[in-house]
Amino acid sequence: MPDQRSYDRSLALFAEALTLIPGGAQTTSKRPTAFAFGAYPIYFDRAEGGRVTDIDGNEYIDLVGALGPISLGYRYPAVDDAIRDQLERGIISGLNAPAEVEVARLLRELVPCAEMARFFKGGGEATAAAARLARRLTGREVILNAGYRGWPDVWSAGVDPGVPKALAEALEPFTLGDREPLEALVMKHRGQVAAIAVDVSTEWPGDDYLPWLRDLADEIGALLIFDEIVTGFRLARGGLQEYGGVAPDLAVFAKGIANGMPLAALVGRAKVMRELEGAMVSITYGGEALSLAAARATMEIYRDEPVIETLHARGRQLREGLTTAARKVGLPFEAIGFDPMTAMRFSGLDAELERDAWGFVLQEMATRGVLLRRGGLNFVSYSHTEADIDAVVAAAREVFAELATLVQEGGDAVRQRLRIRAVDTGFRSFAGRSR
Ligand SMILES: Cc1ncc(COP(=O)(O)O)c(C=O)c1O
Repeated sequence: MPDQRSYDRSLALFAEALTLIPGGAQTTSKRPTAFAFGAYPIYFDRAEGGRVTDIDGNEYIDLVGALGPISLGYRYPAVDDAIRDQLERGIISGLNAPAEVEVARLLRELVPCAEMARFFKGGGEATAAAARLARRLTGREVILNAGYRGWPDVWSAGVDPGVPKALAEALEPFTLGDREPLEALVMKHRGQVAAIAVDVSTEWPGDDYLPWLRDLADEIGALLIFDEIVTGFRLARGGLQEYGGVAPDLAVFAKGIANGMPLAALVGRAKVMRELEGAMVSITYGGEALSLAAARATMEIYRDEPVIETLHARGRQLREGLTTAARKVGLPFEAIGFDPMTAMRFSGLDAELERDAWGFVLQEMATRGVLLRRGGLNFVSYSHTEADIDAVVAAAREVFAELATLVQEGGDAVRQRLRIRAVDTGFRSFAGRSR
């Protein structure tokens, strides 16, 4: 069995973070409780290629990929050079940055629906702009939405008590794949639907689903919005819309377009996008040039090199390797979804055992130098080598073999092996929530 790693520095810093930062982290999914608190690193010191080194000096092959933004690999030389070059010229000024035009041009070249583009910093900000645009253009209020779009009021109505209740009337969630519930919502809000918004991040809803959505949106005069924050520059160069052969009216890109720099893009058909000219949609940092320079370099690499093919090949190697390793030892675990963005799941375990089984996997994989995320999505990058993925699968073989025996013995056996602790916030313990 490999030696346990020390996370002492991470744990000490996080103890202080809890006194300074509500929840201790900026992203809910990055709270240590979302991983394996006490048995998993918390802070990074360096990130390079497909690897991360934590502040205790432990190195890992990283498949968390900053939750998606790192598509080429950390510190990708051509991207970092572009950032450095722009840094020499200035980060932002009262004049606009030429890179705004250059990146919009590249988006138009690479993304089917992207006749025009506007830039934002976060994904949620750009999806909120898409919603506002759809409502302005149609003069209607209701948005039918499948999936997570970010924290703005428009998307968290009915979810967070901090959002006015009235907003919930204008947002109807639905589940991707099933047609009847969506048809029922369309009937319920006849003549009131501004947009249908979806992302397809885990399971393919069937080849005819997206064309059906396209037809449905056209039929009711609503806009079709694809949230390509995860699928963009990953599933295909032109994202889900290229992969599925269906162009939406609007699409949002973020993770993956600037290899970690904070940039999001709202793109769409010119007729639709021009409505933004008069809209109250404006931010100070949309023309921040370091991120735009990174996006330009990232997209040029996507255009000129076999990035997508490599992400698919490495992802397939990972997915098949993990699933086979689990099957061989009779562990009810499989890696599913799209190869460049692997989801992972246990089946048939009760909720508590599943939680602990994940804790065990994260803890033991970290001990063996691999960072994974509970359930996913886990991301391969262009910098991961075949040997990296082989090493991940080899580590998983050991961990799964041990876990399969423990699961046979029962929940207590798994629990006894966990080094995970509860987080003491000083007020109450909190559990990790998704996103
Ligand atoms: C599909 C999808 N949409 C929107 C968002 C929100 O993006 P951001 O966190 O940059 O606001 C995310 C983030 O996880 C996402 O995965």
